[in-house]
Amino acid sequence: MRTLITNGTIVTADGSSAADVLVDGETIAAIGAGLAGMVEADETIDAAGRYVIPGGIDVHTHMELPFGGTFAKDTFETGTRAAAFGGTTSIVDFAVQSRGKSLREGLDAWHAKAEGNAVVDYGFHMIMSDVNDDTLREMDTLVEEGVPDFKLFTAYPGVFFSDDGAIFRAMQQTGRNGGLIMMHAENGLAIDVIAADTVAAGVTDPIGHGLARYSVLEGEATNRVIRLAQAAKVPVYIVHLSAREALNAVRMARDEGLPAFAETCPQYLFLSLDDMGNGFEGAKFVCSPPLRSEDHQPELWKGLVKDDLQVVSTDHCPFDFHGQKDLGKGDFRKVPNGLPGVEDRMDLLHDGGVVAGRLSKERWVEITSTAPAKLFGMYPRKGAIAVGSDADLVIYDPNRRRTISAKSHHMDVDYSCYEGRTVQGASDVVMSRGSIVVRNGEFTGRKGAGRFLRRGPADYARMA
Ligand code: URP
Ligand code: ZN
Ligand code: ZN
Repeated sequence: MRTLITNGTIVTADGSSAADVLVDGETIAAIGAGLAGMVEADETIDAAGRYVIPGGIDVHTHMELPFGGTFAKDTFETGTRAAAFGGTTSIVDFAVQSRGKSLREGLDAWHAKAEGNAVVDYGFHMIMSDVNDDTLREMDTLVEEGVPDFKLFTAYPGVFFSDDGAIFRAMQQTGRNGGLIMMHAENGLAIDVIAADTVAAGVTDPIGHGLARYSVLEGEATNRVIRLAQAAKVPVYIVHLSAREALNAVRMARDEGLPAFAETCPQYLFLSLDDMGNGFEGAKFVCSPPLRSEDHQPELWKGLVKDDLQVVSTDHCPFDFHGQKDLGKGDFRKVPNGLPGVEDRMDLLHDGGVVAGRLSKERWVEITSTAPAKLFGMYPRKGAIAVGSDADLVIYDPNRRRTISAKSHHMDVDYSCYEGRTVQGASDVVMSRGSIVVRNGEFTGRKGAGRFLRRGPADYARMA
């Protein structure tokens, strides 16, 4: 199958140009002006007035994550389908090593969830709950198998928490095997004390979650793990950075020339602590780190502009308001942590970033596709419009407006954090390895068409 996309504006991280794109099978075969008169194609799509961008890459999702006695609701089928509707054509999800089990068991379980179900390509990072001689050895095997990143936590004591020694040992191991440590950086031990005090003082509604998880404790943990990485002489990637204090820690490290990288998420750019009020309704917005007061947001935007933040991913981790979030009625500590978002990331960032004049359209593509591809060993197969790259392409209408609602979204969750918000910019045609998976609001893909992304070392590692 050969598809020719004509008359569009190709937007990449490097620049924009008017050119046609020829897709042959699963990859991009040619790029150039006036291809229409020169090549044969089975289908020609006129992209006049629209952008042609590399498909979005969301490197932080949690399909079916077990959390707080329940499971994140989206499966690999429903979650990747929703991703495709939103112009995201690759995800990297977190396989989980449960305490006392091997990394292998966790990874196999995630392969089983995804294979035959995902509609677009997917990779895995590995959540490490135990760091010991066996799991450290297993890390090497996973790197060889294309799962080269490991998430550790200074949060969630008793569940995913690792102490500094464990984190340092895992970092040393990546120094030997070329992997990357991803850190959830909040001081969970101190937060648990404050949360208990908050409940004891009578604050049991979800707002207590936001009040107890102080931003300074994200800043402290972020600086600590960066310094551990410095001592281990390895890069580190901070996930879901939400707070000014944490950003300052990353800024300082980068100014010193350290290989510290970080992502933020749409919820920290567009939502705030105010959304957590309104009684138990606030449970819809319970995630960790929590939503911050609005004054953190301009700093995060500045971080994105100045490249102290390199990536925007979603931390997509949806729980129904009715039947899941309500496990925490009467005690905010029991609300499952996580928000839906995989479908809305590209449009929210286009609207709030490009349309609002905060980001160029090229930077929008960079933080949502190219930088994640480079940092997570997928570039230039993904995240690029180049001859030989996978034909993961989106024909994006920068002018179409749509209103976000749980009534029309495709994520399997009963509410939207952005209910009623109108955004400018939407995906018209979404192509995954040369096959159209979404066209004008209709799903045309296939369950099971998504393939496992065996990832190599990050760009910075290849250059070292
Ligand atoms: O609240 C969140 N972020 N839930 C998902 C698990 C995690 O820490 O990323
Ligand atoms: Zn986390
Ligand atoms: Zn997460």
